[in-house]
Parts: sequence; structure tokens; C-alpha cells
Amino acid sequence: MCGIVGIVGRKPVAPLMVDALKRLEYRGYDSAGVATIEPDGAFARRRAEGKLRNLDDKLQKSPLAGLIGIGHTRWATHGAPTESNAHPHATDKVAVVHNGIIENFRELKDELKAKGRVFASETDTEVVAHLVSQAIDEGATPEQAVAQSLKRLTGAFSLAFLFPGHPDLLIGARRGSPLAVGHGDGEMYLGSDAIALAPFTDKVTYLEEGDWVVIDRAGARIFDEHDMPVSRGMVISAASAFLVDRGNYRHFMAKEIHEQPEVMSRTLGQYLDFTTGRTALPAQLPFDWKTLDRISISACGTAYYAGLVAKYWFERLARISVDIDVASEFRYREAPLPQNGLAIFVSQSGETADTLASLRYCKAQGQAIAAVVNVTTSTIAREADVVLPTMAGPEIGVASTKAFTCQLSTLACLAVAAGRARGVLTDADEQALVSALAEIPRLAAQALRLEPQIERLAKTIAKARDVLYLGRGTSYPLALEGALKLKEISYIHAEGYAAGELKHGPIALIDETMPVVVIAPHDRVFDKTVSNMQEVAARGGRIILITDAAGAEAATVDAVETIVLPAMPATVTPMIYAIPVQLLAYHTAVIMGTDVDQPRNLAKSVTVE
Ligand code: AGP
Repeated sequence: MCGIVGIVGRKPVAPLMVDALKRLEYRGYDSAGVATIEPDGAFARRRAEGKLRNLDDKLQKSPLAGLIGIGHTRWATHGAPTESNAHPHATDKVAVVHNGIIENFRELKDELKAKGRVFASETDTEVVAHLVSQAIDEGATPEQAVAQSLKRLTGAFSLAFLFPGHPDLLIGARRGSPLAVGHGDGEMYLGSDAIALAPFTDKVTYLEEGDWVVIDRAGARIFDEHDMPVSRGMVISAASAFLVDRGNYRHFMAKEIHEQPEVMSRTLGQYLDFTTGRTALPAQLPFDWKTLDRISISACGTAYYAGLVAKYWFERLARISVDIDVASEFRYREAPLPQNGLAIFVSQSGETADTLASLRYCKAQGQAIAAVVNVTTSTIAREADVVLPTMAGPEIGVASTKAFTCQLSTLACLAVAAGRARGVLTDADEQALVSALAEIPRLAAQALRLEPQIERLAKTIAKARDVLYLGRGTSYPLALEGALKLKEISYIHAEGYAAGELKHGPIALIDETMPVVVIAPHDRVFDKTVSNMQEVAARGGRIILITDAAGAEAATVDAVETIVLPAMPATVTPMIYAIPVQLLAYHTAVIMGTDVDQPRNLAKSVTVE
């Protein structure tokens, strides 16, 4: 996901924009650039491949003094991550930065080329610069040129424009990708999110779908997709003004893994009343648990695996059937949905395009919409009927860790509340489950103490070409998550499988070169999983077993290594067993020397299809 910043200010903006873009590094990017209008009116641009430090180096060697500018971190969609493809893209009349995808850029590019316009990059973004520039050449003002060009574009995008010769004018536009306006004292700002604006202001206005905005030092004028003036409220953003730092951790991911006892405690505190031992959800739920026919859950990646765990909980604790699908499939399936159904969307960023599209489908189908999100100002949050925030705090590492366990904590509370409301759970059942959930921070802290053993184990994994993860019940989504964590940060291929599926194919892969990570608390299906482990061992497979003391005792198979977690109630095992799985992936990636916090090709939030 790209990052956008724009400033019309009273002091040189280039260093300020780089500072703002540093706050967006967590989104993942592969080039960066800024453009300004210099005090002498000249238009200037600096762009660099790779990390922001490369752009910084260029600015040190060749500083910019302009008091107005736009900046960008690019995650390549169209065109390689080269300097010539880096934003801002410009003509002599306009410079533009862009987050998202212009789906009809090819036809527009052909049309513009036929008019004699010459392109310098392979990007879809450059088409926007030429479209606006062409309109200006044909007599439009910058505002008119942007307004008419926006109507030619299809796709999901946010844009920021700068106009040579107009040192007091920025224009921004939002369609399918967030954009915020920051209000300063004699200065104004544009940013992809409030975190980018945090160093300058906490007074933020979020543009709505289809909005575009004209900004000068005195303020902002917002127009809707029909070019009608609209007013959008100003909010005080909670985004931290301080660059979230790593503390004494080598990577953000390590810090965020270790924050889990604290942030899960904060999240549970939102939904549980520890004095009464009852769940305490937001009062005004826009649905009645007792009459719900079905729950649909849709999400992507790690968030999807959290939803998959929740499926087991809702079905077992509340006897509600759950349909779950990855959002990229769900959004096109046109699933028939019941009259009074609930649709739950799980998303750390709250901006994932496929998840948002699924939400809009369910809304159109009359479902009650609940969002389990970490960013309560996000688009998914704003379009939901009820928001159930995870209190993980900013998650900077691209690989999701604390957000995942906070999503699980939130969904567990929701399932217990549903079970009680539907009379499936008695008061005593609810209190037993709430006291089990209350143990999570302590159990998580105990799990983190296993890190030295897991760090040693990572050496085995780091030598592997392929790794298999197995689990049953709520440990099956954990097997999927473990495989995703490993592959997305260490680049070692891994697959997660339902342990019972081993005989239906994957067992053909087993030999002494393939580590098999088995996630198996000593629960009611443990013995079935022991059989699977025996099948693996019989073929020379090397097992890493993650279990508890009873499981270690009962596992009649020679595991290469056993990670023994404390005993705990079944409902909390996913939140706790996730921790060794995360640590194993993390330490393997450290051994592999990959960019743990910003793995190649990945973005923190995928706001394009
Ligand atoms: C998780 O480690 C991945 N980075 C990715 O799968 C992520 O979970 C997915 O893109 C969904 O993101 P969201 O939670 O912001 O919607």
C-alpha cells in the first residue's frame, strides 16, 4: 500500500514530508519521492529507488526549499520499482502522487498518446498527470481539470496534486483508498492516514468516498463526486505523534510479539467485566443474537485465520452456523444471505480492499455489519453498524502478530456473549469462560519465556526447503497461520493442513528433509493427532510438537523437539499457541537475514484488489 503526504506550509516542506513518509514505512514500499514549488516558482522533484534513506541522501546533496509539496512511498503495482516509476509523476503543469490502481489507464494512455503526449514511465499514475495537464492546456483551471479528470478514471485510488505556478494550492481526491486532510495554524496537510499527519496536527478531516478537496494555507474546500460542496467533520486523531519506535527490540515484529500479554489484556478489558465474570459488549448491538440464523465471516490472510478460529467458537459455544470465506472469493460468490444475518469483518488495517468489498456486498444484502478492526477510523470501521476494536495499538511489522491475538480475544468474547444470549451457556458456563479468558495475559507471558528454546529450534527450520504445519479443531487455523508467518517473513515455503488431511495427499511429501510442526494441545482430538504424528515419524519426518505437559506425556512418538506450554482451557489455546508459532517464524527469518518488518513484495494493508 503506498503512502501519500502533502503540505502547504510556512517552512521548507521536503524534510517534513520525509518525516511523515517515515511514519508510513510500515505499509511496505519499494521507492519514494517528493516534489515542491521552490521559492523562485520553479518546480522541483527528487525521487529514489528503495528505502527513504536513499531519498534523504539525495535531498542532503540537493536540498529543496519549497514551502509547498507532495510526497509518496510507492509499492509497485504497474511498473518495476525504479526511480523513473517512482512518484511524483509530473508534466510541466501538474505533479501527482497516487495510492491504488487506475483500472482503465491503458485506454486513457492510448487516447493521450494520440493527442501527442509523451510518457516517461510504465505507471498507471502518469496517465492521471497527463489527463489533468491536457485539460489545463485546453483552458481548464487546476480545479476544473482535476474535477473533469476524476470522472474519466475507474479503479480505487487516492490522489494528491501540486501545480507549478500555484504555490498556495493542493488538491486531493479519494475513491476507494483513504485520504485525510490535516488542519494546521496557517498550514494545511494531506495524508494517507492520521499517522502520517501526527507530527503536524491532530485535527483531521477524513474524506468520504468520491470526495475531492481544494486546499490552501487558509483551509480546505471539500466537494463530493458530483462536485457539490460538502462539509466533513473534523476529528481529533488519536494517532501517536511519536514515531512508533522499536524500543530495545531488533525488529518491530519482535516488539509486537512481546506486547501481546499487555494488548490482549487491554482488548479483553473492553469486552469482559472481570468483577461480575460476565461479558460486557457494546450495548447497542444492531442485531439480536437469539434470532440470528447465520453468521458470515470474511477477511484476508491472518485476519481470515482469526475468523476461522471464531467459526469453531460460534458453532460450539453459541450453536450458530457460520459461513466463512476469504474476502477475495466471498466478494464475487454472490452468496445468498439470510434475512436477519450478521456479517463480521476482521481486519487489522480496516482498509483491505477485498474485505471492504465483501462488507459492501453484505450491507447491500441487508446483513447487520460488525467490524473487528485495529484502526477505528478506517473505512471498514466507518461503514460498519458496530465496531469491535482490537486494542493492539499500531502494528508496524507487516506480518501480523499482536493484531491476530487481539482479534482472537475479541472474537472469543463475542462468541461467549452470543452463547449466553442464546441460552446455550448458563451463567456458570459464562463465568467459567470469562475466568479462562482472564488468564490469557499470564499464559501469554509464560509462553514468551519459551523463546530461547524456540530460537534454537529455528535453526532446524532455517535449513528446510519446505515445512508442513498440522493442527486439528481450532489448532487447524493456527497451522495455516504458522505456515503463513513462516513463508511471508523467511521466504521458506510452508503449508498448513488439517492433521486429518495428512493421509489424503500431503503424507507423500514426508521425508527426513521436511520438518513437520504439529500444534496439538492435549484436547479431545489429541489422540487422533498422535496417530498422524506416528504416520509422519514412520516415514522419517522430523516432528516439532507444540503441546502441554499432558500432551508431551501422552505423545507416544519421538518428536525432534517438544515445546511445552502451560495447561489451559481449550477456549484460550489459540491465543497462546499462536505465540510459539510467531516466534518460530520470527527467529527463522532472522537467521535467513530477510527484512523481517518489511518482507519483500508485501504491504501492511492491501488496499487494491
Ligand atoms: C498477515 O501477516 C499478513 N501481513 C496479511 O495476510 C494480512 O493479515 C492481510 O493482508 C489482512 O490485512 P488486514 O488485517 O489489514 O485486513
